[in-house]
Amino acid sequence: MGKKKFKIGVVGAGYVGLVTSSCLAELGHNVICYDKDKEKIRELNKGKSPIYEPGLEELIKNNLGRKLNFTDRAEDIYPESEVIFICVGTPSSQDGKPDMSYVETCAIELAKFITDYKLVVEKSTVPIRTAEWIERTIKLYNPKANFDVASNPEFLREGSGIHDFFQPDRIVIGVNSEKAKEILLQIYNDDDFKCPKLITDVKTAEAIKHASNSFLALKISYINMVADFCEKAGIDVDLVAEGMGLDKRIGRSFLKAGLGWGGSCFPKDVKAFVKMAEDLQVDFSILKEAYRVNERRIEVFIKKVKDALWVIKGKRIAVWGLSFKPNTDDIRESPALKIIPLLLNDGAFLSLYDPKAMENAKKIFPPSDKVHYANSLEESVIGAHALAIITDWDEFKNADLNRIKDLMLTHIIIDGRNIFDPKKVREMGFLYYPMGKP
Ligand code: UGA
Repeated sequence: MGKKKFKIGVVGAGYVGLVTSSCLAELGHNVICYDKDKEKIRELNKGKSPIYEPGLEELIKNNLGRKLNFTDRAEDIYPESEVIFICVGTPSSQDGKPDMSYVETCAIELAKFITDYKLVVEKSTVPIRTAEWIERTIKLYNPKANFDVASNPEFLREGSGIHDFFQPDRIVIGVNSEKAKEILLQIYNDDDFKCPKLITDVKTAEAIKHASNSFLALKISYINMVADFCEKAGIDVDLVAEGMGLDKRIGRSFLKAGLGWGGSCFPKDVKAFVKMAEDLQVDFSILKEAYRVNERRIEVFIKKVKDALWVIKGKRIAVWGLSFKPNTDDIRESPALKIIPLLLNDGAFLSLYDPKAMENAKKIFPPSDKVHYANSLEESVIGAHALAIITDWDEFKNADLNRIKDLMLTHIIIDGRNIFDPKKVREMGFLYYPMGKP
């Protein structure tokens, strides 16, 4: 397969759009990324990434002004681009269904500019049949338009997005025409991408994305129920997970028990899959339960804090971790957003620390006499009655616990992510409350 370089337009400078555009530019394509947010585009044109993602800013800087450009004007992207990746947001609306208005706007805007053939590729996580709606919308606004709509679902994880783009487990290409298939196989050619490539029709590709995300969420909820069982039975859930994971049919990944799944994908996607199924008269009760199990993780954790501290009112609690997972500054649907208000309601004083997410958290919990943002791990625990761990950043795993102990007033750790060895921390003199362990 030849390595043709394309003129590629990427709509949306969010997490998926930025990783996609900078990685495609790195592969030598001419990429223009479009977002209506003028401020974001201004910063991007200075080489500044609006999100923290390891390696992203370097890729942007490497390619900026050459293979990679950013714009806030529709006329800069649509006329020139041969392939257009739609990476706009599809946030949850009130009823749990995704709000598709950004995708629709994109189709309407694009329709006006189609004079010769274009391939429109949906990368955002979208309901089944979205491609059909995009096609219908473009035709409504430009009946003569010559185009295909394909689905190339995104499987990137935040925090390792660049790695996942270049080394994916698989690439799913949902197409309804030979021409669309040829183009996508040239972009994802065998030299650059050695992984298996699955070619399906468009609807199937859309379904694969939902079925995958919901399965992973289900797997985590399952291990969290096993964790509750283990705790009562006096067993260590991490050992159970290790034993399960050695079975190739099960696998070790996504069996980390703790505070459950957050982020901009799993909570929204599980709800959306349940709704989609409901529309087709399928009761996806197993996913509804996975969702409930996930919500209960917060109660389990708060109960541990209460068991550990007896009275929360007036206590100083150091909180480590605000992002929904490590290596990102993203706090969307982070357990921290639920735990912090509950602790504040009970009258705690909080000292919050996160390596990357504090600026985002300040917009929701502004600093006050009850909420302090610490500059370091050490500062956060000074005079603390307890330490609550919400995210499993490496910096926390590598903390000097002797030093931490010296700085705390009473030595209690409630660990929502099981980052420490219970035996070791207990030997050091901490009262240690992990998740799913004796
Ligand atoms: C997830 C999927 O893993 C990606 O494949 C997908 O592309 C992405 O959603 C998306 O749809 O855009 P992401 O949300 O970035 O990626 O994060 P994950 O690494 O999947 O973690 C999700 C949540 O599950 C985090 O809150 C994490 O702490 C939690 N988790 C993960 C566990 O509690 N236990 C585990 O064993 C693994």
